[in-house]
Amino acid sequence: MHLQTAPRLLKTPALGSIYLNVQPHALTISDNLRATYTFDREGRLLSCFVGGENYRCGLCGDVLLKVTLPSGKQRRLLCPDEQTGLSESVRSAVARISAGLADQLPAELRAWLAVILAWDAERWARERQTFQTIYKPVSIVPPDQYRAVVLQATEGCSWNRCSFCTFYRDRRFHIKAPDELRTHIQQIKAFLGAGLALRTSIFLGDANALIVPQPRLRELLQVIHDELPSATTGELRPIYAFLDIFGGEQKTIEQYAELRAAGVRRVYLGLESGDEAVFRLLNKPGSPAACLDVVRRLKAGGISVGIILLAGPGGATLAPQHVAQSLAILQAMELAPDDLVYISPLIVPPDGAYAQQARELGLAPLGLDEIAAQLATLKAGALEATEHRPKVALYHIEEWIY
Ligand SMILES: C[S@@+](CC[C@H](N)C(=O)[O-])C[C@H]1O[C@@H](n2cnc3c(N)ncnc32)[C@H](O)[C@@H]1O
Ligand code: SF4
Repeated sequence: MHLQTAPRLLKTPALGSIYLNVQPHALTISDNLRATYTFDREGRLLSCFVGGENYRCGLCGDVLLKVTLPSGKQRRLLCPDEQTGLSESVRSAVARISAGLADQLPAELRAWLAVILAWDAERWARERQTFQTIYKPVSIVPPDQYRAVVLQATEGCSWNRCSFCTFYRDRRFHIKAPDELRTHIQQIKAFLGAGLALRTSIFLGDANALIVPQPRLRELLQVIHDELPSATTGELRPIYAFLDIFGGEQKTIEQYAELRAAGVRRVYLGLESGDEAVFRLLNKPGSPAACLDVVRRLKAGGISVGIILLAGPGGATLAPQHVAQSLAILQAMELAPDDLVYISPLIVPPDGAYAQQARELGLAPLGLDEIAAQLATLKAGALEATEHRPKVALYHIEEWIY
């Protein structure tokens, strides 16, 4: 579909002001500044703003509501009835707009609107089912990769024992064979259809995909390049992935340089805390000092880093040393503008190992306001501690949906 990309403002007495923002791979419709809907080329609803509330729609078929209340931000998944209500109201708004503007729109745009209107309740249900046959739950990716194509080259976490993290407890660690990955990617391409063009980067799932031994990783990356060359140039699509610190220590600078040449651009490491005592409490693999070493190796190999810190671990008792040591290690990392620092407010899983240990050690948990204050201190400190100003941002695990 060739369509001139441009914002258009269309007015009719019946519809009022309808603003259509046609982007190369997404269409945003604004209905009298009261509601906004964004769709991909496959007609899939990506996000919308209706009745003062923000919704993000996952490929998984769920919808995440984000709303700011006087008591703070609320983030929750819609229940099935709410979701049906939302999708029907979006569809009927698009049907009204499409009918009202039919004679003012070029044929290609009318065709795009028709594709959007094909998403009825049955289609949503079918896509949800298909998603579940392709993917294990995509538990988390870093915020700058929310629009990536996620490929589960591995499933789960090879460690899976951090005291605060429950993301991958539902699955065993598994490295896909090259043919298995090829099939997975072909299924994803068929599933995303024309919507693939919007997703210019690749996120390699799950928790620490780069831990895969180098010969196998080389084969897997080759499969990815065969199946998913860049949409426009035929070059490599940029690749991003998580890695745990222990896994990071298993590779040399030369191996990282090879991964860089194969398209890997940034690796995200969960340091969580620069303080040894807090780090041990979290039962992370490796150590803060080892994390510094891994960062140096990655950067020497030409790969950028994303460092994730927690706000709140160790409670009030360990807060001063958590903040001081975390900022000290960030400073030692000599981060650059293409590196990132994320700060994730700790959400303590009830009855998990972290909660139990914190109770036993008498660590008074921080309240929400205190966590927010620590987050702000870490954010300001991270900016000051790093000469070349990497981006520092919030990483809220409840804001994620794929
Ligand atoms: C996939 S892991 C990061 C990469 C790698 N597995 C590692 O541990 O270094 C995802 C990140 O989510 C965050 N996370 C996990 N559980 C969390 C929780 N209960 N509360 C807040 N953040 C959490 C942590 O910062 C963790 O580093
Ligand atoms: S924090 Fe990372 S290493 Fe630890 S269990 Fe979670 S995914 Fe695995």
